[in-house]
Amino acid sequence: MNKLQMIYEQAKQRTANGQVASYIPALAAANGDLFAVSLLSAEHEIELGDCTETFTLQSVVKVISFMVAANYHGIEEIMHYVDVEPTGDSFNSIVRLESHNNKPFNPMINAGAITIASLLPGETMFEKVKSVTTFLEQIIGKKVHINNEVYFSEYQSADYNRAIAYILQANGFLKSDVEEALQVYLQLCSISVDVSDLAKLAFYFATNGKESEAICNKGVINIAKALMITCGMYNASGKFAAFIGLPAKSGVSGAIIAVVRNGEIEQLQGPIGIGIYGPAIDQVGNSVAGIEFLMHLSKEYDLFCL
Ligand code: DON
Repeated sequence: MNKLQMIYEQAKQRTANGQVASYIPALAAANGDLFAVSLLSAEHEIELGDCTETFTLQSVVKVISFMVAANYHGIEEIMHYVDVEPTGDSFNSIVRLESHNNKPFNPMINAGAITIASLLPGETMFEKVKSVTTFLEQIIGKKVHINNEVYFSEYQSADYNRAIAYILQANGFLKSDVEEALQVYLQLCSISVDVSDLAKLAFYFATNGKESEAICNKGVINIAKALMITCGMYNASGKFAAFIGLPAKSGVSGAIIAVVRNGEIEQLQGPIGIGIYGPAIDQVGNSVAGIEFLMHLSKEYDLFCL
């Protein structure tokens, strides 16, 4: 067993310390014992664990929707609607919507992501969702679909998100109506992927989009990476940056992308994208095994890059 496999095996044991997300019934049905990791460089891919599993992107999609909207409108226009400041609050927190000129703090919390959903290019809900799926498909090289069971389940338990959307609308921070913004946001959270798709997505950031069909302004990619560092791991982003030191984004499905700009992990060299799926999450919403894996990986392979 090589060093990487040992780190995987050690981290897998941590699945027992977490619980699958319970606030959305369809996510509560996931098997918390699962743990899958995919690491991708220009030349090789290494897969460990339950890599055939599919799951939904959840908040990982927030990075992509931000890029699509910012690429379309320009960052200056986007900044009128959503800031790039971390909050340290939980992802669905509503408390700060009456401070900071009522403007959502960043696109990685639900308030900012719902605003971004309303700003996506397209006249209809369908076109807005498609603007993001098309961009994602260009990165991962295959068609994606929405998991309707998760979407309907999210929609039926979206009281907090609906409340957030109404406050955003009342303060002029929605460019569509509440229902459309909410439905676009929840459909995007429900895009189905596997761990290898996540690695490709992370690899896109590792190469600054250079080896992909999906075209995005370099400045926007830089801001997306900065947002991952400052707000990507919910209210554990500070600790993640301090002790792991990689741009990363997580979702409550147990998905994580992590970006290595230049590293060496076994046979992989140079830019490396890491995709993780471990549905047992901690109190904050991050995969427990995923965090443990990245912690040891960063230390053992000297990947800290901030
Ligand atoms: O808004 C929700 O409840 C979820 N669909 C968001 C998912 C998530 O991963 C948490 N977000 N930051």
